[in-house]
Amino acid sequence: MLTTRPTFVFFLLFLSLPLSSFSQPSNPVYNSFLKCFSDKTKTPQAQNVFSQTNPSYSSVLRAYIRNARFNTSSTPKPTLIITPRSYSHVSAAVLCSKPLNFVFKIRSGGHDYDGLSYVSDKPFFVLDLSNLRDVTVNIADQTAWISAGATLGEVYYRIWEKSKVHGFPAGVCPTVGVGGHLSGGGYGNMLRKFGLSVDNLIDAKIVDVNGRILDRKSMGEDLFWAISGGGGVSFGVVLGYKVKLVPVPRVVTVFRVEQFMESGAVDMVHKWQSVGPRTNRNLFLRMLLQPVTRNKVQTVRATAVALFLGRADDVVSLLRKELPELALKKENCTEMTWFQSALWWDNRLNATQIDPKVFLDRNLDSSRFLKRKSDYVATEIPRDGIESLFKKMIELGKVGLVFNPYGGKMAEIAEDATPLPHRKMLFKIQYSVNWQESSPEIEKGFLNQSRVLHRFMTQFVSKNPRRAYLNYRDVDIGVNDHGTNSYEEGEVYGRMYFGKNFDRLVKIKTAVDPGNFFRNEQSIPTLPSKA
Ligand code: FDA
Repeated sequence: MLTTRPTFVFFLLFLSLPLSSFSQPSNPVYNSFLKCFSDKTKTPQAQNVFSQTNPSYSSVLRAYIRNARFNTSSTPKPTLIITPRSYSHVSAAVLCSKPLNFVFKIRSGGHDYDGLSYVSDKPFFVLDLSNLRDVTVNIADQTAWISAGATLGEVYYRIWEKSKVHGFPAGVCPTVGVGGHLSGGGYGNMLRKFGLSVDNLIDAKIVDVNGRILDRKSMGEDLFWAISGGGGVSFGVVLGYKVKLVPVPRVVTVFRVEQFMESGAVDMVHKWQSVGPRTNRNLFLRMLLQPVTRNKVQTVRATAVALFLGRADDVVSLLRKELPELALKKENCTEMTWFQSALWWDNRLNATQIDPKVFLDRNLDSSRFLKRKSDYVATEIPRDGIESLFKKMIELGKVGLVFNPYGGKMAEIAEDATPLPHRKMLFKIQYSVNWQESSPEIEKGFLNQSRVLHRFMTQFVSKNPRRAYLNYRDVDIGVNDHGTNSYEEGEVYGRMYFGKNFDRLVKIKTAVDPGNFFRNEQSIPTLPSKA
């Protein structure tokens, strides 16, 4: 009979232990957290908790950093990273973190433009939800359960696997995470037809400050409303959402047409303002403005990028009538399936040939440095205003603008239906600058350029308050130190993101998290106490 010797058993046990078990020297925070976490979940949890001495710490942290500005040796790092694998892990992580008094950052896809999900200037933990990524599509009742740690690409892929005539209205970048995107509103190229992602929610699950796992019924309509665009991070850990799928035609059309400042772009962009937000709601026609050098001359390129939920002939005849300045021809158009259009919008121009599985890829090159800002336009910019804007962009040299039309379904939804109030705007502007060089001087220059352009735009954009989109995170518009002036500090960025809805968000925040455990540099503050 074969007998197993004790030393061999020990060796096997040794091999089966996770790497992280060997590499956590005496660290009181780690030890205290780990003990609590393991006790509450009734299983040893070393493989789901990473301190800075763990050999996997850096790769776990970096896996979901999507802005190279926050991936440097001087970027503040979390004391612990916790990677839950179940709802009860999330609940235990909240309960075990509370007494330790660290800032508790929550990360799903890591696309926060200013890195707020994984950076803080105070000691902090990161709760990384990338393991909670189930997407379950139910075509019979046209719904899907989408977990916070899933990416939009995974959501689109899982829908496509089951149906070629269903989709979901959300962002155009497939690596964006559900947790941040939906809790911040969720905007994409079907919003003129179906609204924001949050206009298509049925239910949600959240872990609250007391570690309770709540669904829509048990959290109540106020909290459900708050996490439908008010940013999850102020209220709890969003575990996922149940969403309504939307019908998409078997064939859709995409196109991209460029014009330059010296050959009609000013007129085209000027006219677009009256067409983009008012045209047939099956058409989403975005304008990208970019300063470029052409034939050794500095100019602005205006690129119209479109998704039409219909056939090429129809969109060509529509735009010949409504926007002849675009000079759209059938040759500019490509017909494809809705899923392929999502690939195409992700700059995969061979979308009809490519393997759909690329949307499941999580190993990304995140080497770009970037900055984004936002604005909203309520009334059309006059022609000479567009011309002066182009000149300003040329003078600055690098920052681009993206004009995203609203109208259609967006304009029909009440401003207080969800926390995002900008329903009646003509279009949203994204300021966009990317660069490759790792240099503080270069970074300073580009950040400054984007601020100068933002100041220049004051004359053309919404006022009192000037508006901004939460998911285009911009710490330039104000941050919160969560001290005695927390409410006043929060009101500065809060009014820009949420307008009058800020007041309701503050009330809900005060009711559900009076101790302000869930916070970040731009979270919703609690009401000041009446001392
Ligand atoms: P990340 O994990 O960084 O979280 C963002 C914020 O949400 C943080 O404050 C975080 O703490 C909080 N949060 C995350 N998960 C949470 C959870 N489970 N519970 C509670 N709080 C949570 N937007 C858009 O509307 N349309 C678009 O097309 C695009 N496109 C786009 C492209 C690229 C390349 C980037 C980098 C970003 C976009 N965005 C966008 C913006 C994007 O929607 C926004 O950054 C989202 O908040 C990202 O969600 P993640 O989960 O990926 O980010």
